[in-house]
Amino acid sequence: MKNVVLAKSAGFCFGVKRAVDTVYENASKENVYTFGPIIHNEEVVKDLEKKGVKVINSLEELDRIKTGTIIIRSHGVSKNVYDAIKRHGMEIVDATCPFVLKIHKIVREESEKGKQIIIIGNENHPEVKGIMGWSVTPAIVIDTVKKAQDLELEQESQVCIVSQTTFNYKKFQELVEIISKKGYNTNISNTICNATEERQTEARDIAKQVDAMVVVGGSSSSNTRKLYEICKNECDNTFYIQTLSDLDLSKLGMADCIGITAGASTPNNIIEEVYTNVRA
Ligand code: F3S
Repeated sequence: MKNVVLAKSAGFCFGVKRAVDTVYENASKENVYTFGPIIHNEEVVKDLEKKGVKVINSLEELDRIKTGTIIIRSHGVSKNVYDAIKRHGMEIVDATCPFVLKIHKIVREESEKGKQIIIIGNENHPEVKGIMGWSVTPAIVIDTVKKAQDLELEQESQVCIVSQTTFNYKKFQELVEIISKKGYNTNISNTICNATEERQTEARDIAKQVDAMVVVGGSSSSNTRKLYEICKNECDNTFYIQTLSDLDLSKLGMADCIGITAGASTPNNIIEEVYTNVRA
């Protein structure tokens, strides 16, 4: 049997695991919907579909539904969407990650105090769209140096800065520094979640020690690609696979010690299948 090190942080983070588990727990009810796909993993979404869970993507689609349960995914939704679902009379199961809920609370309270909310993040990301919708005044979203430099507010403005949970910490610091120099009265809440960083740090540490490293995740998953690059830097023998069938086990033949990690949207059963077969 080979010596295999499986990263503890491989796969779903706490918030995504909680949301996916919530959907499975509710799947046997009549008319269950998720607002947006619960996770960026087609296999999981298809499996849930087989169990009768449908995905709706907009309030317009909601209008066509009469009764049932709607599950809000870990990214959360804006207040507007939340209220619309409630008004519609459907049962809401809120699986918003508690770390994201904390940002909603900060944004609502600080904007109610009259502060200008600035979100460091990508404005097209569903989590950021949701966060924006909890500010009582229009929030500003910044993700580039240029946007930070171009920011112009009244000099006496009170500013509250929060971050998208998955934003890169170095870039966050860089953008916050530019904004802080503008002389507004600024308070900063670093709301970056450390799940991504922990996964990357652990992957790097394991890759340093092993003869071969296997990274499991979807081909279009940017966080899996990043994990692969980190591991490849430390261990030349690094393989990027989507499922076990992509792995040529003969290539691992000479390796005594093999490491395994997986991207944030890789389900446990896929990781376990790789683990069991690599170990054999
Ligand atoms: Fe995951 Fe929640 Fe962090 S969804 S990445 S644990 S903010």
